[in-house]
Amino acid sequence: MDIKVNKNNNGFTGEIEIPSDKSITHRAIMLLSLAKGKSVINNFSKCADCFSTLKLFAQIGIEYEILNDTSLKIISSGKLKKSDKELYCGNSGTTMRLVSGILSGQNFDSILTGDESLSKRPMKRIIEPLSMMGANIESNNFKSPLKINGSHLCGINYVSNISSAQVKSCLLLAGLHADGETVYTEPYLSRNHSELMLKYLGADIETDNLTTKIKSSVIEPKNISVCGDISSAAFFIAAGLIVPNSRIIIKNVGLNYTRTGIIDVIRQMGGNIEILDKRIVSNEEVGDILVEYSQLKACEISGEIIPRLIDEIPIIAVLATQAEGTTIIKDAQDLRNKESDRIKAIVTELQKLGADIIEMEDGFTINGKCRLIGNCELQTYCDHRLAMSLYVAGLISKESVLIKDFHWVNISFPGFTRAFAGLSA
Ligand code: S3P
Repeated sequence: MDIKVNKNNNGFTGEIEIPSDKSITHRAIMLLSLAKGKSVINNFSKCADCFSTLKLFAQIGIEYEILNDTSLKIISSGKLKKSDKELYCGNSGTTMRLVSGILSGQNFDSILTGDESLSKRPMKRIIEPLSMMGANIESNNFKSPLKINGSHLCGINYVSNISSAQVKSCLLLAGLHADGETVYTEPYLSRNHSELMLKYLGADIETDNLTTKIKSSVIEPKNISVCGDISSAAFFIAAGLIVPNSRIIIKNVGLNYTRTGIIDVIRQMGGNIEILDKRIVSNEEVGDILVEYSQLKACEISGEIIPRLIDEIPIIAVLATQAEGTTIIKDAQDLRNKESDRIKAIVTELQKLGADIIEMEDGFTINGKCRLIGNCELQTYCDHRLAMSLYVAGLISKESVLIKDFHWVNISFPGFTRAFAGLSA
């Protein structure tokens, strides 16, 4: 599905609720599938990626019931079973990498597959450490399909050279079914939803700064309420900041420190952003976000903050086109391994719009403030976050833009354009 985006001349005003957190929903489905009993996930994410996880677990033995528009019941015997069919992870790297950790220590074999984009993504980062734990995984030159031959796992002490929550979570989940202790250390803090949820559900897990230790544990069935996804809120935050006359309140957004790098960056850029009504829900920090149209200034983004805003970099690039001065983003080379090569993709498409953006190996440089011209056709590279970032860029482009294959948005945000329409004057 292609869509045409026109310049917004009125501004966006009002309140919205954004879809629930994708990362947390994946983890809730996975962990509650390991817990013997019944539990309910309130405000679960209905995006395509989370349905990939849900259907996969149904194939390996759980039952589920969608109770109403917001609640999902998981019924599990606490034991998973072999599937005679391949387990399809769709477009979801989180599904494939985390589930590999769970399946490696089972007493049955499984085959994990994915769509064209997922089949190109690197799996060495999980295959190597899982193999050190005793896992037996056959792959297509370290890419999927992955044939996971269930094995006896032993805990290891692993020092990772990348800050990836998917790799960390994979090993912690493998550690749940391993002998002894599994210890994982990362260079910079990546999202810690797995650690928080494992603790919430009774696992024997401790984190000290960059190191997490887990021992084989029994997971308790408990209800989990999922907050809104800051990575989805990011598109509305950005639109609020760069579309003149905007004032938006985004309700019930997850504010876990490991995800709020974008808020720190916006404050550094001089953006009007305020957090209202901070609270704790199911062991996660939550609040409402107020943003208003702002005059932005450039900033430098690198090092420790990168994993705290990794999924927001394409939309931060759009923001930077409207900031006075030169914005530099570096140390973000892993962006090339996402649903698309996000460095190349955002640079190419923003250049088409008229932005002054230069590609670097590990990021890019943007000279602002530039006037986006539009009047062009943009590609989404089968990447939901590219699609949404380009939509926001279209809202401030002088002439309309045509975004090809916009349906990729459903991977994380069904109802994205409707949500914007609800905020239009
Ligand atoms: C995710 C971790 C990040 C992020 C992805 C979701 C997760 O990936 O980009 O969208 O839920 O653990 P990496 O672990 O590859 O950085």
